Amino acid sequence: MTVWGAAAVEAAQGELRIRPGDLVTPLARERAAQLGVKIIAGEPGAGNGTAPANVRGSGPPPARAASGGGPNGQGGQSPARAAGGGGPNGWAGPDGQAGRPSVPAISGALYRRGAPIARAGADRQAGPGGRVMVVGAGHVGMITAARLADADVFSEIVLVDVADGLAAGIALDLTHTAALAGYRTVVSGATTVEEAGPADYVVITAGRARQPGMSRSDLVTTNAEIVGDVAARVAVVAPAAVLVIVTNPLDEMTQHAWQASGFPAERVIGMAGVLDTARFQALAALAGGLRPDQVSAVALGSHGDEMVIPLSQASAAGRPLTEVLGEQTVAGIVDRARNSGAEVVGLLKKGSAFMAPGASAARMVLAMAADRGDVLPAAVLADGSYGITGVYIGLPARLGPRGVREILELPLRPAELADLRRAANRIRERLGVLAGAR
Ligand code: 2OP
Repeated sequence: MTVWGAAAVEAAQGELRIRPGDLVTPLARERAAQLGVKIIAGEPGAGNGTAPANVRGSGPPPARAASGGGPNGQGGQSPARAAGGGGPNGWAGPDGQAGRPSVPAISGALYRRGAPIARAGADRQAGPGGRVMVVGAGHVGMITAARLADADVFSEIVLVDVADGLAAGIALDLTHTAALAGYRTVVSGATTVEEAGPADYVVITAGRARQPGMSRSDLVTTNAEIVGDVAARVAVVAPAAVLVIVTNPLDEMTQHAWQASGFPAERVIGMAGVLDTARFQALAALAGGLRPDQVSAVALGSHGDEMVIPLSQASAAGRPLTEVLGEQTVAGIVDRARNSGAEVVGLLKKGSAFMAPGASAARMVLAMAADRGDVLPAAVLADGSYGITGVYIGLPARLGPRGVREILELPLRPAELADLRRAANRIRERLGVLAGAR
């Protein structure tokens, strides 16, 4: 594996050819965008320059250039609903193979420490440098705040929790950590959203966690009250913010927060696809003796039983994952990824997973703030893509500083598409139960 840095981009004559498994640093991608250098994945001389490079999933405009497409790099397609095949979106055909379906790359190099950020709030009311509010200082909120602080890109992270002293205590602990970790981000604590004040991004983790034996859906009415209240109050305090919902049941809570906030749908998104994809990648990597970032896949649908991991989009080192690991093994990994949350709950006995969920929420905020055009699976309001409308469900979305820029349509197999539509119907049913309970 070669790591390609900015110097390599600067030395390149118009295009930089990389090999499957190579790594392009975020700074190199930035330079490529500035200089108009195309990053092309594939074997030298293989003649597959049509696929955009994306080893690390942060493919900004250079990938666009590689597609040679229309105004949005989509070959003239509607910007609102871009086709996935080799799309210029931070996803690529597996390791640059032209004509293969595109896959996301959720990987380890998530952001460049201290990189400049883009702001969500058009009115800049949050002050200079960018401010993130994390509501709920339980384990997930704490890890989200820690990962965000560690990135050292925001001026301030404010943790909020109704439990007296909890947010302030964690904030102080993270403040002490700054000297060790080398970040300048100020971390503070508050007991109310109002006390926390304006923010560019608001991550809502508040709610009851799952106990052993509970499904995510068991939490629907309890958590709806909490999330609805927080979202409505955030809308007053931070009217230009982007909301990232983490509370379960994820898809339903995201839709509920969207309604309670009155925000446009593009500014309310749910974290789950990033987490579920990461779990699938990690498990597939374990099974195949690979690095997780060598596995490309995407988790769509619901964050629960109707999770859809389309195997048409899953590959490792440029080969279909089913060929690399065998169909039965991959089917087992899909099941295990779908149940990973419950598996952790079962082991912990009390509370649910927080490391990967917190890292996933931070990943989404950082992707938006970095404004590189990253495409991540997220719970978004379906816009007719995949034949689904009007319901929040996990779909691939290109993120920008003001939330969802567009939903991308992947060339799924008919059975995968049917599974995704079934997931949408189940989420709709649960939303009906929630509406009935109010
Ligand atoms: C999980 O899957 C917390 O829903 C979260 O672990």
